[in-house]
Amino acid sequence: MLGSLLFLAPLVGAAAVDSNASHRDCPGYKASNVKKDAGSLTADLTLAGTPCNSYGEDLKDLKLLVEYQTDERLHVIIYDADEQVYQVPESVLPRVGGGSGSSDTSALEFDIVEEPFSFVVSRDEEVLFNTSASKLVFQSQYLNLRTWLPEDPYLYGLGEHSDPMRLPTNNYTRTLWNRDAYSTPNGTNLYGSHPVYYDHRGEAGTHGVLLLNSNGMDIKINRTKDGQQYLEYNTLGGVFDFYFFTAPTPKEASIEYAKVVGLPAMQSYWTLGLHQCRYGYRDVYNVAEVVYNYSQAEIPLETMWTDIDYMDRRRVFTLDPERFPLEKMRELVTYLHNHDQKYIVMVDPAVSVSNNSAYTSGLSEDVFLHHQNGSIYEGAVWPGVTVFPDWFNSNTQEYWNAQFAQFFNATSGVDIDGLWIDMNEASNFCPYPCTDPQAFAISDDLPPAAPPVRASSPRVLPGFPEDFQPAKRSTAKGQGTKGAKIGLANRNLTDPKYQIQNAAGVISMNTIQTDIIHAEEGYVEYDTHNLYGTMMSTASRDAMALRRPDVRPLIITRSTFVGAGSHVGHWLGDNISDWEHYRISIAQILAFASMFQIPMVGADVCGFGGNTTEQLCARWASLGAFYTFYRNHNEINDISQEFYVWPTVAESARKAIDIRYRLLDYIYTSLYRQSQTGEPFLQPLFYLYPEDKNTFANDLQFFFGDAILVSPVTKENSTSVDAYFPDDIFYDWYTGEALRGEGTTVTLKDIDYTHIPIHIRGGNILPVRVASAMTTTEVRKKGFELVIAPGLDGTASGSLYLDDGDSVEQSETTEITFQYSQKNCELQVSVENGSTLQVNMITLLGESGKKTFEHGFSLSESINLRI
Ligand SMILES: *[C@@H]1O[C@H](CO)[C@@H](O)[C@H](O)[C@H]1NC(C)=O
Ligand SMILES: *[C@@H]1O[C@H](CO)[C@@H](O)[C@H](O)[C@H]1NC(C)=O
Ligand SMILES: *[C@@H]1O[C@H](CO)[C@@H](O)[C@H](O)[C@H]1NC(C)=O
Ligand SMILES: *[C@@H]1O[C@H](CO)[C@@H](O)[C@H](O)[C@H]1NC(C)=O
Ligand SMILES: *[C@@H]1O[C@H](CO)[C@@H](O)[C@H](O)[C@H]1NC(C)=O
Ligand SMILES: *[C@@H]1O[C@H](CO)[C@@H](O)[C@H](O)[C@H]1NC(C)=O
Ligand SMILES: *[C@@H]1O[C@H](CO)[C@@H](O)[C@H](O)[C@H]1NC(C)=O
Ligand SMILES: *[C@@H]1O[C@H](CO)[C@@H](O)[C@H](O)[C@H]1NC(C)=O
Ligand SMILES: *[C@@H]1O[C@H](CO)[C@@H](O)[C@H](O)[C@H]1NC(C)=O
Ligand SMILES: *[C@@H]1O[C@H](CO)[C@@H](O)[C@H](O)[C@H]1NC(C)=O
Ligand SMILES: *[C@@H]1O[C@H](CO)[C@@H](O)[C@H](O)[C@H]1NC(C)=O
Repeated sequence: MLGSLLFLAPLVGAAAVDSNASHRDCPGYKASNVKKDAGSLTADLTLAGTPCNSYGEDLKDLKLLVEYQTDERLHVIIYDADEQVYQVPESVLPRVGGGSGSSDTSALEFDIVEEPFSFVVSRDEEVLFNTSASKLVFQSQYLNLRTWLPEDPYLYGLGEHSDPMRLPTNNYTRTLWNRDAYSTPNGTNLYGSHPVYYDHRGEAGTHGVLLLNSNGMDIKINRTKDGQQYLEYNTLGGVFDFYFFTAPTPKEASIEYAKVVGLPAMQSYWTLGLHQCRYGYRDVYNVAEVVYNYSQAEIPLETMWTDIDYMDRRRVFTLDPERFPLEKMRELVTYLHNHDQKYIVMVDPAVSVSNNSAYTSGLSEDVFLHHQNGSIYEGAVWPGVTVFPDWFNSNTQEYWNAQFAQFFNATSGVDIDGLWIDMNEASNFCPYPCTDPQAFAISDDLPPAAPPVRASSPRVLPGFPEDFQPAKRSTAKGQGTKGAKIGLANRNLTDPKYQIQNAAGVISMNTIQTDIIHAEEGYVEYDTHNLYGTMMSTASRDAMALRRPDVRPLIITRSTFVGAGSHVGHWLGDNISDWEHYRISIAQILAFASMFQIPMVGADVCGFGGNTTEQLCARWASLGAFYTFYRNHNEINDISQEFYVWPTVAESARKAIDIRYRLLDYIYTSLYRQSQTGEPFLQPLFYLYPEDKNTFANDLQFFFGDAILVSPVTKENSTSVDAYFPDDIFYDWYTGEALRGEGTTVTLKDIDYTHIPIHIRGGNILPVRVASAMTTTEVRKKGFELVIAPGLDGTASGSLYLDDGDSVEQSETTEITFQYSQKNCELQVSVENGSTLQVNMITLLGESGKKTFEHGFSLSESINLRI
């Protein structure tokens, strides 16, 4: 959260230096020594003329490696022959092997053009990627590669952004450089970087292209002057490390992506309950009152959150002794736990330079980032002057673990159930060059910092042995070392000639200075900036797992990179309480959940910044019930927006939560499946109707699992919505009424502010709890209603996964599949490892309405029923 607008950097939208198109005159490369075998292709690439050195120095000798990793996936990497150039560390994103693919059986074909070097990736004669659109540029601080694309393609991904789900195809620049982006403006770089796009070609299939590169970049989607469509990468470094993956449908393409970046973490059942937060709860009594008010209003509240308010002068790992004293905090947490409720607080990476143990122990363990001259790097964030943990330092994990073990200690600290990490782009309020963070912190309205305790830097003692001298920090340890893949030496790490269109300005603006060299291997912040939040995520997950080794840790982060979903969930950051943000949240959650494999995702319900309205909050309370991560969160100084504040909002929340909680096992089963196979839970319409062009750009409706179509009202003061129904059968959730979709838009009318239209898609069987409850713990005790929604062919199927809801290692799990056929009116229930739970009733939907049977049976073993 970035609360105060005071800190916003001027939007000096660094104009791209595209006027200097000199890289267009670069000589390109010539391929030689091309060798092929069944599974791979290699070649040497040599600069084909005089270096143009437009934005750095042209590298003379490159290598190409093409691997048919599987029959659906091709790995194409173009890297420097000396292997000095930075590559995303395996410790951050473990690489997948493969080895099962071959050029004979692969769905993807790779063709090389030797001079000037370019390559083509195709699928069944259809060209997917053709880099002859420009000559390859591979310089010390700039890479350029352009591929032709078909006219006006259906492209998705390239997050994090708040632009339409289907990306614009003309005059579009997508900058990736993680940034504290208050109000999440469209057309700009936001908190995370996911350089993967999906290209959906209808019946022909869907493929994805991941450029595994963490450097700042501009990706352009545009047309040449004579109208030819292209996509172009302009990155500040790294190598061209491409993964091409293909599938018959977009859903399967997402599954292929999960195979590259890792399957998402499974979440505990309770995490799917309602979360309440705000910045600006005055004290622990205020927090307790919110919990009380929720229960009085009979709105189920699963988890209470506290923002930085709990901290002593906003320092991480401290408690405000007056407003949030330890004893009261422990009482609050005990109260919540006794009522099957949970508690979460925020932790930021930046540590206050003052007399606090997180700082002093971090200093003594030397885990903070240093300038190249050896002094500790300082910025300014919430508590004033701060230092930043270096996640590359091998001591940092232990340091972080120790902070968590102590501060979040179950017997003597704040026994949190989950964690919220913020400001990890990393955000730094002090604008670059931030030469005097102290002065900056004092001049702003930050609370006055306590007198700092600075490590006295050991003095140089001539004549004394080495270990009496200050520790030497090599300026660029691994830099320039052959084979180290740490990064080239002698780069300008703060002012690269090519300027990406970072909305904050130069690349070091309002973040950690990019010429910082990390501990040990010597990676530079210039190359690894986009990894900071994800490295903090992994370290925090490990620290949480050590506190409670038996349960799945919930961590919600603001900043993400490729693969983050294996560790954490994400909220969409500091949105605004307006209809624009309400609407765009759908495209954003869909991108994260289905395309980036971070299924635990949601936007701040009712909006974070600015005052919400009763109507917007009522609509959002029900839309948010269909995000995976459902949290109301609000900024300090805005009007209160807890769901109980207005009658229509309370009503909307109660109704939507009733549906959500009854569907918890359906959600949990879908998320479990995604964690096992990558099959996405939240999906855009085109994932299920990949041949229906009308769905390709629809980002105002979505599927909540395979079976539920959500069609929220999207306009202020409106009580209707124009909803698209593909050629299929749907059933109104509330009435059971059948709606035969005809590939047209249907105006759904009379939708009051407390109502959200949802439809069950034919062909599905839903296990629904017979009743909701005030906590997810209570919901888990209820029996089931099976809702059978026959498809156009008269059949339906579904599944149910049950476990204890929380443990990392499950001793007993139940997997049930349901099959129904209208022909013989038979329901087959196949049970693996029975459960003691009961089905209490069956509802059969049909063209002629719904029939409910009070049909009790146990889920302990397989049975066939005639209904
Ligand atoms: C433009 O390109 C030339 C080389 O062709 C280079 O000398 C100059 O520095 C470049 N200017 C900018 C602003 O990048
Ligand atoms: C790739 O694009 C070039 C034009 O830049 C074109 O001549 C060539 O035929 C294309 N390759 C394929 C396989 O379509
Ligand atoms: C491209 O977009 C920029 C910035 O949004 C705008 O100023 C410019 O006019 C557009 N150019 C074209 C050719 O559409
Ligand atoms: C897109 O191409 C047009 C025409 O070549 C050009 O004027 C415009 O600047 C380009 N836009 C971007 C974002 O590069
Ligand atoms: C951003 O939103 C505004 C207002 O809706 C719209 O006019 C503009 O086209 C959007 N920009 C992009 C890049 O989507
Ligand atoms: C709780 O509800 C009471 C009664 O409606 C109200 O006066 C109070 O402001 C509420 N407190 C909070 C923290 O929402
Ligand atoms: C730092 O805090 C500790 C514990 O509160 C205290 O004992 C110590 O005197 C303080 N040191 C300084 C330099 O203020
Ligand atoms: C919690 O604190 C107790 C007592 O201070 C200590 O023995 C225990 O190891 C701590 N727990 C963890 C998980 O570190
Ligand atoms: C980086 O480039 C800028 C702008 O050209 C220059 O002012 C600065 O001195 C350079 N820094 C280094 C370390 O070369
Ligand atoms: C929000 O409402 C409060 C109380 O009415 C008011 O003081 C504040 O200025 C409003 N904020 C904005 C951004 O309009
Ligand atoms: C909705 O109605 C309110 C109150 O009449 C009005 O102020 C607002 O402008 C309307 N909004 C739209 C988008 O029409």
